[in-house]
Amino acid sequence: MSISIRRIGPGFAAEMSGVDLRRGLTAAEVRTIEAAIDAHAVLVFPGQDITDEQQIAFSLSLGALEDTAGGNVTKPSERRLGAGMADVSNLDQDGKPLGRDDRRRMFNLGNQLWHSDSSFRATPAKYSILSGRVVATSGGNTEFADMRAAYDALDEATKAEVEALICEHSLIHSRGLLGFTELTPEERAMFRPVRQRLVRTHPATGRKSLYLSSHAGTIVGWPVPEARAFLRDLTEHATNPAFVYVHRWRPFDLVMWDNRQTMHRVRRFDANQVRDMRRTTIAGDGPTVAQDQAA
Ligand code: OGA
Ligand code: MN
Repeated sequence: MSISIRRIGPGFAAEMSGVDLRRGLTAAEVRTIEAAIDAHAVLVFPGQDITDEQQIAFSLSLGALEDTAGGNVTKPSERRLGAGMADVSNLDQDGKPLGRDDRRRMFNLGNQLWHSDSSFRATPAKYSILSGRVVATSGGNTEFADMRAAYDALDEATKAEVEALICEHSLIHSRGLLGFTELTPEERAMFRPVRQRLVRTHPATGRKSLYLSSHAGTIVGWPVPEARAFLRDLTEHATNPAFVYVHRWRPFDLVMWDNRQTMHRVRRFDANQVRDMRRTTIAGDGPTVAQDQAA
């Protein structure tokens, strides 16, 4: 069966069928997927009942895995999944839903804020690959915003204003927005702010996009309140429904997105339901801007 592709979102996001991600892909299949993600920014692969090992093998065909160290607050003894897998489920190491006030759950609630994965790292993520093993039966949709369309829709004066701006991103900021502030000194050191350009140019397509994320806490050289007000305005603009694709999960959907040209968020769901979501992340090529040593 050959690969077929069909648009499912407003101007971006596509569903790809006719490919079995559980087996090794041919070089031609990998090229087809890369061309499709460059163009559509979000790809949905339905019916992929995949193991962690197969998900990692598929991911490695697209690039190196991101080093997940420092990205969450889970102690090694509390890990449910093996190396290379990011656990974005609501489950503890025994597969039970986390208690309502469990620290890991508090931390993961940050995924309900619009973000781009790992924008708090100096080299942020390229692709994220999320497998829905057990999906929520009500709520728990994942929404994606097309940051190219959002950029294109800015007026010329705003485009000129944002062109050279640099933001500082940190998990301390995004978690603080939800009132999660109990971080150890080690976590505070690990989550030190990094710098990111506000406008990125996609290396394959040359299209510009707004690089926003809930991790962005200020703009270098701006008063903090003015920066936050502006970033909020831009985020409100960028997440207008005209630029958003809502993914309603079916079991074994595998969704892949390009963090360089999209933002995403998960919507609320019943905390007592099992929602088993497992992510692999492809490392980015490098920082979007030189890092300030003193930052
Ligand atoms: C992620 C994430 C959304 C979800 O995996 O990066 O933000 O639907 N998850 O769980
Ligand atoms: Mn995410």
